[in-house]
Amino acid sequence: MSRILVVDDELRYCQILEAMLHHENYDVVTTTDSKQAARLLDEQEFDLVISDLRMSHYDGAELLRHRNVVAPDIPFIVLTAYGTIKSAVEMVREGALDYLTKPFKEETIVTAVRNALRVGALNEENRNLRQLLKESLGDMVFLGETPSVKAMMERVVKVAPTDFTVLILGETGTGKDLLARQIHGLSNHRDGPFVKVNCAAIPASLLESELFGYERGAFSGANHHHKGKFQMAHGGTLFLDEIGELDASLQAKTLQAIEEKRFYPLGGSNTVEVNCRILAASNRALEQMMKTGRFRQDLYHRLMSFPIHIPPLRERKEDIKILVDHYLQAFGIEMGKPGLKIEPRALDFFTDYDWPGNVRELMNVLRSAVLMNRGGTIGLESFSSHLLFGEETEAEDAQPGSVLLNNLPTLAQAERELIQKALQASSGNKSQAARLLGITRSHLRYRMMLHNL
Ligand SMILES: Nc1ncnc2c1ncn2[C@@H]1O[C@H](COP(=O)(O)OP(=O)(O)O)[C@@H](O)[C@H]1O
Ligand SMILES: [Mg+2]
Repeated sequence: MSRILVVDDELRYCQILEAMLHHENYDVVTTTDSKQAARLLDEQEFDLVISDLRMSHYDGAELLRHRNVVAPDIPFIVLTAYGTIKSAVEMVREGALDYLTKPFKEETIVTAVRNALRVGALNEENRNLRQLLKESLGDMVFLGETPSVKAMMERVVKVAPTDFTVLILGETGTGKDLLARQIHGLSNHRDGPFVKVNCAAIPASLLESELFGYERGAFSGANHHHKGKFQMAHGGTLFLDEIGELDASLQAKTLQAIEEKRFYPLGGSNTVEVNCRILAASNRALEQMMKTGRFRQDLYHRLMSFPIHIPPLRERKEDIKILVDHYLQAFGIEMGKPGLKIEPRALDFFTDYDWPGNVRELMNVLRSAVLMNRGGTIGLESFSSHLLFGEETEAEDAQPGSVLLNNLPTLAQAERELIQKALQASSGNKSQAARLLGITRSHLRYRMMLHNL
């Protein structure tokens, strides 16, 4: 039964509300003394507070502020006889959930109470989920607060305790592994094993026995029975990473194993049955691969029954600061340099950059910045050296030996290239490029003119 605290300095209103809410089977505590109400909030548990706004000595706004401190998750409804929009907006801005003017109808109150209690229950559920996440994962939580990540996490939390096969899609470094482990950690199999197979890392000829195991004598050299990953994941979760790389010859058998939870090991004449949850991940456009016949349609549809898309980091820029703060602290502690800070303009660059390698690339930059750091503050230089000389993974257009000693360019050539790189890295923004190069914007313009850029 929900417990409601009613506060109004007019006894009459306390009595009316108590009668109405009792009638709806709520447990009601009333008081005409708002200070007493604050004490009750300290000492007892309530699911909802309904409070008058204008009260002598200690008014509704003060009680709301007290609630914000001692019990921020308990919904708060304000009643007022002076129903001006202004006070309503103020109270809502300070955290009140709803606002009702006196005199009120019974049905208005009942509906408002019902809605408020629903919100309260959701708050509680969220708190429990966060707690659960923390307990089951330690510090391995998928960080992010952008709406797209929140929506994704809602799907994750819903699907985790089911037996659904989940396909995690996202560019490299977006956190597919992390999310798979998180789903396992929130599932009913969390006490069982988490077994990962990287379908891209194992040659097709070996992958079949790796997945399904083999019996003695299955092939020359198979001189004992060998358990496959499906079996090792029994009672837990099997994570098929980079499933887009699964060889065509294995796709049918894998689909069958996923659907029937039963398969023949190599060279075996008896089926093996397993009970494991299947998760898969891919950074490839599986749909395209299916259309061109490189990925089986039936396996594709089976996996796509519950896809989860992780957006690339460049589409959730607000999360960059959260990740930077977290990993600066984590690496700082790891390397004995706690309390590191990042310069605001360096953070601006981190935020502007589009991170083709996503969170993994960001972690690499931060790790080396922490390693190299002496002064306690991470500045722009850690980032500009990454952009100018760092990961060349995307640089198809880089000419071999461009700035390297084996094919020594003239100083002018090298400078021209550096300027071009800085401009590319800052998408043509001259102020940014100048900062990357450590020169002023007008100096950059001058050098560009010299180089005909
Ligand atoms: N949202 C996130 N919050 C915290 N760490 C993350 C997040 N996304 C990725 N990481 C970290 O980035 C690294 C790369 O993530 P990973 O799951 O291996 O990516 P993928 O499998 O998609 O290539 C890991 O160290 C992971 O813990
Ligand atoms: Mg991965």
